[in-house]
Amino acid sequence: MAYETIIVEIEDDIALIRLNRPEALNALNGTLINELSSALTEADHNDKVRCIIITGSEKAFAAGADIKEMSQKSYVDVYTEDLFGAQIEAITRVRKPIIAAVSGYALGGGCELAMMCDFIIAAENAKFGQPEINLGVVAGIGGTQRLTRIIGKSKAMDMNLTGRFMDAAEAERAGLVSRVVPTAKLIPEAMAAARKIAEKSQIAVRTVKEAVNRSYETTLREGLLFERRAFHALFATEDQKEGMAAFLEKREAQFRDR
Ligand code: HXC
Repeated sequence: MAYETIIVEIEDDIALIRLNRPEALNALNGTLINELSSALTEADHNDKVRCIIITGSEKAFAAGADIKEMSQKSYVDVYTEDLFGAQIEAITRVRKPIIAAVSGYALGGGCELAMMCDFIIAAENAKFGQPEINLGVVAGIGGTQRLTRIIGKSKAMDMNLTGRFMDAAEAERAGLVSRVVPTAKLIPEAMAAARKIAEKSQIAVRTVKEAVNRSYETTLREGLLFERRAFHALFATEDQKEGMAAFLEKREAQFRDR
């Protein structure tokens, strides 16, 4: 399907979705959010896709919500259209793993979009921030919530109150990103990580995603019970038998997602 604001390529079981509004540093406007939601839903339903990567350009993953598009809206407008509501939250309903490959600016909604993905690989030039405070507003899709759970209160308050940017090294120290790679290697490194995930049993992969995400939604006791039951349930799969047999026979496992 042809899109106006994103480019989708499918290669080696991986869907690479590139945000593509270079004139506005990939600011998230209505069209981009619609197209991203459709592309993600399509990738989630496409049997040829086993892992998804969202990326931007070298200069910007996304510089936030489109300020030009929203600046004149009223409270009634944004409330009625549920601006940055259900449509963008649809990303969190995708069952396949999503890696955010972030180069350059990931600000406001851009940082929040990256945090909605399952993990973030950052280029050395990445800059994360929640500068909404400079516009007289606050974050709207997780900048005060997901960010606080990920990096803790002190840093989340600092980022949201001062609007300062965090570089890749600080983001890695704070646990916001899983790894930092040379800027020119961002896509190859993200593709390599995605290929590793694509090799595994997709039943186990989706169970990991469900279980880790559960840890954000529930108590430790409930989360541990969910995890243990999920672990037990995987003994009903052929892939568990194959994975364990392959280890004992000192060979590579051939998972069949069954
Ligand atoms: C619309 C944007 C934009 C944005 C950049 N542009 N960010 N347009 N919305 N969020 C446009 C600029 O207007 C400019 O267009 C072009 O992209 C290049 O940007 P420059 O500012 O000239 O580039 P530079 O000097 O390199 O500065 C980069 C920057 C700066 C530091 C990232 O653009 C910036 O501060 N952007 C805004 C960041 C921000 O406040 N984000 C939060 C948005 S609110 P022209 O036409 O002039 O060339 C938000 C709310 C989230 O995200 C809540 C729910 C999602």
